[in-house]
Amino acid sequence: MRLSDQPLLSAETIQGRVTELADQISRDYSGREIVLIAVLKGASIFCADLMRRLRVPATLDYIRAKSYRGLHSGGPIEFTMLPETNLTGRNVVVVEDILDTGKTTAAILDMLDADHPASLVLCVLLDKPSHRVTPVHAAYVGFAIEDRFVVGYGLDFDEAHRHLPAIYTLVE
Ligand code: XMP
Ligand code: MG
Repeated sequence: MRLSDQPLLSAETIQGRVTELADQISRDYSGREIVLIAVLKGASIFCADLMRRLRVPATLDYIRAKSYRGLHSGGPIEFTMLPETNLTGRNVVVVEDILDTGKTTAAILDMLDADHPASLVLCVLLDKPSHRVTPVHAAYVGFAIEDRFVVGYGLDFDEAHRHLPAIYTLVE
């Protein structure tokens, strides 16, 4: 396995879209305060860039779910970190790297909804709609992509490639 020669999404393309998403969120939540919940580890880079461009007050917390093994999703979802923030009555934006089958994200949303936030929405950088098994609505989507395994900008293959500023596909 190696990286594609050309990125699927260049650093410039990603940064431009992150700015647009931050603008959209800032408009939608104007006059309110939000809680960003970044899904570790993949969304850490995306969330850091997104948060710096918001023009509404935002706090940051994390959730971590273990579900993904190698190239294929599956198996039960286990939470290895939960937010410390009390989400009751708060406006929560969950920040995810990628929506694939939807199983992990659906389980995360269910878990956070149990705290009765005032609102709970999902912001994903990447969406692979053709691979969806569990329906999940994302209020904010960076890019819809084909069902290919991607790495970079926080996304990993066996923990490698997260540092890359662009997103690449893995090829044989
Ligand atoms: P599900 O299938 O539950 O999976 O929506 C979501 C999680 O799976 C991981 N994932 C990927 N990670 N490149 C990655 O580096 C990919 O192409 C990819 N597709 C799914 C990711 O951790 C996500 O949170
Ligand atoms: Mg991963």
